[in-house]
Amino acid sequence: MTFMRAVLLAAVPLAFAQVDPPGPPFPNSTYPNATDPLTDSGAMWNETSPPSYPSPWGTGLGDWSAAYASAQAFVSQLTLTEKVNLTTGVGWEGEKCVGNNGAIPRLGFKQLCMQDSPLGVRDTDFVSAFPAGVTIAATWDRALFYQRGFDMGSEHRDKGVDVQLGPVVGPIGRTPAGGRNWEGFAPDPVLSGIAVAQTVKGIQAAGIMACTKHYIGYEQEHFRQGAPPTSVTEPISSNIDDVTMHELYLWPFADAVRAGTASIMCSYNQINNSGACQNSWTQNYLLKNELGFQGFIMSDWSGQHSGVSSALAGMDMTMPGDEGFDSGTSFWGTNLTIAVLNGTVPQWRLDDMAIRIVAGWYYVDREANQVANAPTFSSWTLDTYNYQHFYASEDYTQVNYHLDVRDEHAANIRNFAAKGTVLLKNNGALPLSGKEKLTAVFGSDASENQYGPNGCSDRGCDNGTLAMGWGSGTANFPYLVTPLEAIKAEVLSNGKSIEDVIDDYAYAQQNALARRVTDVGGACIVFVNADSGEGYIVVDDNEGDRNNLTLWQNGDSLIRNVTTFCNNTIVVMHTVGPVLVDSFYDNENVTAIIWAGLPGQESGNAITDILYGKVNPGGKSVFTWGASRGEYGADVIYEPNNGVLAPQEDFAEGVFIDYRAFDKLNETPIYEFGFGLSYTTFSYSNLQIAAHSAPAYAPTSGDTPSAPTYGTVSNNTADYLFPADIERIPAYIYPYLNSTSLSASSGDPLYAINYTFPAGAYDSSPQPLLAAGSKVAPGGNAALYDVLFTVSATVTNTGGVEGDEVPQLYLNLGGPNDPKVVLRNFDRITIAAGASATFTADITRRDVSNWDTVAQDWVISSYTKTAYVGSSSRKLPLSATLDLSGVSTSPSGPSSYASSSHSSSSTTAAGYSSSSSIPTLTSSYGHHSAPSGYSRPGGYYSTSA
Ligand code: BGC
Repeated sequence: MTFMRAVLLAAVPLAFAQVDPPGPPFPNSTYPNATDPLTDSGAMWNETSPPSYPSPWGTGLGDWSAAYASAQAFVSQLTLTEKVNLTTGVGWEGEKCVGNNGAIPRLGFKQLCMQDSPLGVRDTDFVSAFPAGVTIAATWDRALFYQRGFDMGSEHRDKGVDVQLGPVVGPIGRTPAGGRNWEGFAPDPVLSGIAVAQTVKGIQAAGIMACTKHYIGYEQEHFRQGAPPTSVTEPISSNIDDVTMHELYLWPFADAVRAGTASIMCSYNQINNSGACQNSWTQNYLLKNELGFQGFIMSDWSGQHSGVSSALAGMDMTMPGDEGFDSGTSFWGTNLTIAVLNGTVPQWRLDDMAIRIVAGWYYVDREANQVANAPTFSSWTLDTYNYQHFYASEDYTQVNYHLDVRDEHAANIRNFAAKGTVLLKNNGALPLSGKEKLTAVFGSDASENQYGPNGCSDRGCDNGTLAMGWGSGTANFPYLVTPLEAIKAEVLSNGKSIEDVIDDYAYAQQNALARRVTDVGGACIVFVNADSGEGYIVVDDNEGDRNNLTLWQNGDSLIRNVTTFCNNTIVVMHTVGPVLVDSFYDNENVTAIIWAGLPGQESGNAITDILYGKVNPGGKSVFTWGASRGEYGADVIYEPNNGVLAPQEDFAEGVFIDYRAFDKLNETPIYEFGFGLSYTTFSYSNLQIAAHSAPAYAPTSGDTPSAPTYGTVSNNTADYLFPADIERIPAYIYPYLNSTSLSASSGDPLYAINYTFPAGAYDSSPQPLLAAGSKVAPGGNAALYDVLFTVSATVTNTGGVEGDEVPQLYLNLGGPNDPKVVLRNFDRITIAAGASATFTADITRRDVSNWDTVAQDWVISSYTKTAYVGSSSRKLPLSATLDLSGVSTSPSGPSSYASSSHSSSSTTAAGYSSSSSIPTLTSSYGHHSAPSGYSRPGGYYSTSA
């Protein structure tokens, strides 16, 4: 708690020296081995984050204009404390959802209910447990991405939720052992970006807000919040260079913003040694200016570590509102009211927070999607009657209405799970005919958790079949169909025989049953798993992140025991990500291998559909299967590496994660990214590339309007005192003053210590737009999404049954720092036996561009670019060069990216001097240190409090 104490009160100016960062504005920002002298170092130990102020105010860009108009009309009526109420949660377990802000009763505006999770409605009953992100990603099917989002959003809506805390694209999956990778989609920005956009659209079409999370660089559980059990006092710093940020980590967030995500959750970790929720570069510069994000930034739970600093750095809502769970104190609440009154947070910044929150509400039409008694459930109990204010044990009432909101989603869930199942190996064993004389099922992963499907809180154990990981990214199962019961039903319907051994350690029984199958004929189906989750729960010594990539529950021994005797062993893996399969994948007695992911409630039905050929597998692996964890390059940091200070996690691999790392390091994966078999086969031919004439890329220029304010703020502190008629709930966070004296109201002895916040933070005058930004719509410069080429190819089903194929389009961008190939598009197509279909896929300007750190813009390099089409990242039979001769590659002629001098690149980027090849900052983004709030000797932004 010591570092938190140092920045305890929002309005307390802390004394520390400002030190201007030397050199270029984006120091150390590029790939390792880059030739640019300005940016040679790459992601660095103690990397710092450039300051960027003021915080951009929302303008109602693109299709947000109507929502903004409504929000402006509403917010104009609000008092100061009503606005503050919108921004601040009432405290942990203060109301019924995992997060709740304050209401505006005077105008009938209810508290917003923020509820996990990315795979269903968490912590309640009679809801569906959908497949996890990693499984839906493996369908590679845009329509299914959308449908799952819509179904989840509908359930949240019908329970009375306002904001679904998902989807996840951070972590993206930098390291295979990262604990929460499964909540997100895939370690590829394009697949993640398409999946997140469709999911956001689906969720919001149901009439609730999505919260895309966790922004950004949140790639491991260890040290995400610093603190115990280690002596580390600060959250880990993800040190990310500017190119990697744009080309990898920010990319899917750009897609989410473009899709209209109403909110984004800032993460626990630091980025370049500045906390994610108070990082002015990631929030102000990247998200709100460059991407033109119009919604609101919500903190992760206790992810806020400063008051004024986080407000100036762009955060809009603090969750769950209290400084520490049930501390009764808040960085905002009363302190934000004080900060506006004493001028340390300008009114326009608070107004912008309020506008963004209310605009999100209008944007998804929350008004028309209300339900009675919302929220109709309590996250803290399944009892019908309990306390409304759970932590304070106050207001005993009906808290759960037990509404069954599942609708007809079970059929979709079964379909999502089956379509997201990946067939990795098949020697003809599959599909099963149903005529097997004896079917033998092995492994605890085939069966029930002895405590019941919800018997471990937040799924914090690995008992029985694995259908989701653990942590906040979960939902209660309404039921869980196990593989054993579904397979048994299938076998019995065929009048055949089935036996099982679910004890993973019953070697004698395993051997005996396996031997009998070989003797009489039939199939052995072995179920194994590997689990991970969120760091607040430790399972089998795994603190969220996996300790290794091996199978859990003695899985390797189980497979060995069965395969020693059974010559027809089918291995089914429920895993959160890659596991090491080298000990068994090429064993000739292993006749088939299936990755069944994290399928949700219909697990058994979905795998049975695949095993018996009712669904022809068409899923493709969304990660690479290597022979050892070392092959992946980047890995989790498990031990403190910086004393008690923030562990330094240098993303030195740049954009080379997963398949890009394997390609770069010349390693041969066992199963590559994008790989998956079918019960039929496909061939590829006839690649065609049509070029389109797109307008020349125009860097965005011009200024924003000046910062608007809505309504007036009275300077009479008496107007904001606790209303006499309020009965205070213990530990509840309110916006009111305790005294007409601001100092007394803060209760902080350090109040009014001399401290200067960055002057630029208070500048409400028109601000320059960024070249890569947009005045048209959120998502960055609109021309990035111009379609430059359309690729088509013929895909022929050369086998005997109808099947789904996922043709994939990859590009090589040609530069020495570019990956061998990067995924750029895909489609999932159903093709009848013997028939052909045409795969078509667009290539946008963004797809062929690289991020130029000096121009601070996307540019198309002069290197030759090649398009590849095929069935996986390594099976790319078709290729052709892209003819870019007709395409304007950069605003000022040939690209600067390919050159080493950057002589032509800095002429037009907003905010930079036009006369020098070394950019200098102009005053509007002046040299101000970031008020990071962290005490860190030696850093540019060190605080001395
Ligand atoms: C998690 C978030 C989650 C929040 C609320 C945090 O610990 O990181 O993903 O939404 O808790 O449960």
